Amino acid sequence: MKLLVTGGAGFIGSAFVRYLLTNRDDVQIVTLDKLTYAGNLENLAPIEGNPRHQFVHADICDAAAVTAILADGSIDAVVHFAAESHVDRSILSPGSAVETNVRGTATLLEAARTARTSRFLLVSTDEVYGSIEQPTEADETFPLNPSSPYAASKAGADLLALAYVKTYRMPVVITRGSNNYGPYQFPEKLIPLMISNALERLPLPVYGDGLQVRDWMYVEDHCRGIFSALTKGTEGAVYNIGGGNPLPNIEVIKRILKMTEAPESLITRVTDRPGHDRRYAIRVDKIARDTGFRPSVSFDDGLAATVEWYRKNTDWTSRVKSGEYRDYYQRNYEWRSAGIQG
Ligand code: NAD
Ligand code: DAU
Repeated sequence: MKLLVTGGAGFIGSAFVRYLLTNRDDVQIVTLDKLTYAGNLENLAPIEGNPRHQFVHADICDAAAVTAILADGSIDAVVHFAAESHVDRSILSPGSAVETNVRGTATLLEAARTARTSRFLLVSTDEVYGSIEQPTEADETFPLNPSSPYAASKAGADLLALAYVKTYRMPVVITRGSNNYGPYQFPEKLIPLMISNALERLPLPVYGDGLQVRDWMYVEDHCRGIFSALTKGTEGAVYNIGGGNPLPNIEVIKRILKMTEAPESLITRVTDRPGHDRRYAIRVDKIARDTGFRPSVSFDDGLAATVEWYRKNTDWTSRVKSGEYRDYYQRNYEWRSAGIQG
């Protein structure tokens, strides 16, 4: 099986590429990535030189580049991770999320339709359902109600993909994953940011009251779920993939403080995220029923492995935290800290 993996130099995409090339002898991968601030070839270093892997530096919005890869029909499936993936960045400047997540997905769908690619898996998110009231859990038919520009752009991509299923009978599968964590995650997201700040004894910025709930999933579980949906899922279907670890942010942060032996005094309450979703919660029985997939990593084990990875890879972290990251950190946190709530 030969796969085109977009966004394969990012956090989850690179975990997917490493996971498949390490565990499956029958898979070849072409990774396509624009190498934005979030894309990093160091994330693929463990599989460097693997003869079953090829890297292409390109933008998914570039129809000619994408068509050149798909046109000869040698790609059996597209696994589409590439995205502007951070909610706070999409709030600061929504344009690139719309460009990559909507127009980029449209460009890829059209290239795959023209090339008659046998399968197209769109990696989506549980954020498309918006905030979910207790005790409801969203199944795959739940209405889309995105809150942030990021979530709206991902919902736009989902709707385009579903339109391709209806209009062209294109063999698309969509997965909607919950919050991921694990090695190589860019330290703009909650868990790697809190781990890296705690290790450096820097303030841990908690948005609002910190009681927002996310369902945490170890990245390798997500990769296994995506591969199950790709190989065993029904054409045209949507699958939620969750970790089964719903926790309020403040609880996650306290566990990180414990594992890093950092003081609770680092916790700093800052102004909340505008439009902040209070709770994500999804039903995951459909993917279990159709493909047999279930997550297997407990939150405490996954978090311990993640803390250990960041402890050992301070070179990686300091490289990605230099340059552009400093500017982003200032833009995202300076105004928030001015509005400290207590
Ligand atoms: P990431 O930001 O770590 O990586 C995104 C990758 O896409 C980077 O390598 C970047 O260079 C590449 N990219 C961005 N724009 C591109 C473009 N125009 N053309 C080609 N490449 C481009 O993101 P991630 O956290 O690994 O998320 C991957 C996918 O999974 C996204 O689609 C995201 O919406 C989805 N998702 C993420 C989570 C999560 O918790 N992180 C959960 C569910 C779903
Ligand atoms: O649910 C899946 C989604 O999870 C993915 O689609 C997104 O790509 C991914 O970024 C993630 O979105 P979130 O907004 O939930 O993740 P983030 O890590 O940005 O924030 C998690 C929670 O932590 C959220 O309630 C906001 C809060 N937070 C985040 C940061 C960065 C803080 O309190 N302080 C922070 O500094």
